[in-house]
Amino acid sequence: MSDFEWNPDTYLALMAEEVPDYERLQEALVDAVSTAPAGRMLELGTGSGETARRVRAVHPQAELVGIDASAPMLAAARRTLDGHRVRLSVQQLQDPLPDGPYDLVFSALVVHHLDGDGKADLFTRVRRVTAPGGRFVLADLVVPPDPADVVTPVDGVHDIPSSVEDQLRWLQEAGFTAAVQWQHRDLAVLSATAPR
Ligand SMILES: C[S@@+](CC[C@H](N)C(=O)[O-])C[C@H]1O[C@@H](n2cnc3c(N)ncnc32)[C@H](O)[C@@H]1O
Repeated sequence: MSDFEWNPDTYLALMAEEVPDYERLQEALVDAVSTAPAGRMLELGTGSGETARRVRAVHPQAELVGIDASAPMLAAARRTLDGHRVRLSVQQLQDPLPDGPYDLVFSALVVHHLDGDGKADLFTRVRRVTAPGGRFVLADLVVPPDPADVVTPVDGVHDIPSSVEDQLRWLQEAGFTAAVQWQHRDLAVLSATAPR
């Protein structure tokens, strides 16, 4: 994603155009994280803070660490999110993750920018920073079993979604117990729990 310039001013209009069920995906992620332990949270790809804002509404006391490759998007997130107990850093998902442990790791519409090996490697690194009994909730674009369910444009260069089945396997290989929490056409929320 290094050569695509995310613009916080046009971001929500782009989502409305390209991801018609953007709001439903965010709601499904919030549902999945609402029952998770959340003293300390890590968000992968905070962007302009849209997902973090919703998650903080259900976990207002939690500390949030957020990473994203785009400085302009994180500048918008700093304006959106109350600075209290929030630390945002410009970095790639491929970089070493900020030190854990985290009770909750979550991500929306970002991990599909990594190829299969990149996702499997990320899931292993997420597992290492997840606290015993902690949760990783992944809301993202996926390759649906029926091609007729592809509604979001995929360029195959920046967008490299994987199937739910592959991602559940990589999560399990990383040491999580993983399940599908919600799926609609080419969007899914996966919930993965670390052993105690
Ligand atoms: C579609 S937005 C998602 C933001 C937010 N989670 C939401 O749902 O509105 C994608 C974000 O992923 C970030 N991103 C894409 N590839 C990345 C990577 N390899 N490492 C870190 N951030 C990345 C972009 O900078 C952008 O802010």
